[in-house]
Amino acid sequence: MAKTLIIYYSRKGENYWNGSIKTIAKGNTERVAEFIQDTVGGDLFEVETVREYSNSYMTCIEEAKQELREKARPEIKKMPDISGYDTIFVGYPNWWGTMPMCMFTALEKQDWKGKTVIPFCTNEGSGLGSSERDLKSICKGAKFMPGLSVHGAESEQSKNKVANWAKDSI
Ligand SMILES: Cc1cc2nc3c(=O)[nH]c(=O)nc-3n(C[C@H](O)[C@H](O)[C@H](O)COP(=O)(O)O)c2cc1C
Repeated sequence: MAKTLIIYYSRKGENYWNGSIKTIAKGNTERVAEFIQDTVGGDLFEVETVREYSNSYMTCIEEAKQELREKARPEIKKMPDISGYDTIFVGYPNWWGTMPMCMFTALEKQDWKGKTVIPFCTNEGSGLGSSERDLKSICKGAKFMPGLSVHGAESEQSKNKVANWAKDSI
């Protein structure tokens, strides 16, 4: 049986939610990551930044824009170790059209040869944006399965959709 890892970044606190600002106790991507684990098993790995992004949505938007512009690689608390896994789900919110830059920090120095990558992204309407393309340029030698986009505000109700996709992907 192939070993599965679910690597994700997710931000709690103030977020954009169906056109207004709302505080959420559990991140949308984290919820989806847990649905995947409930369905196909595997280990969860949460990417956490050393310097937390602002709890304020408006400030965080600016921080993220700056990091994208600078192609920053924000420091993370712990690097995931993908070496013992065959299948790796990679999850993140869409930030300015791609993954938060801390995901680049977590993923780009890994050995992806022979791995299968399955992306998932929560967002408020932009879908996966350019994240799949960006992931493909980082995860050299990996095989890719089609990514899943989940509307963040509907993440709580997405269990069936996520479960069906996860089962088909693996
Ligand atoms: C810094 C920042 C940038 C965002 N940029 C986009 C975007 O470009 N397109 C989009 O559809 N949603 C965007 N969003 C909304 C998030 O992708 C969405 O709320 C997501 O579900 C948050 O997931 P999380 O709770 O796991 O962090 C952005 C949110 C933040 C905080």
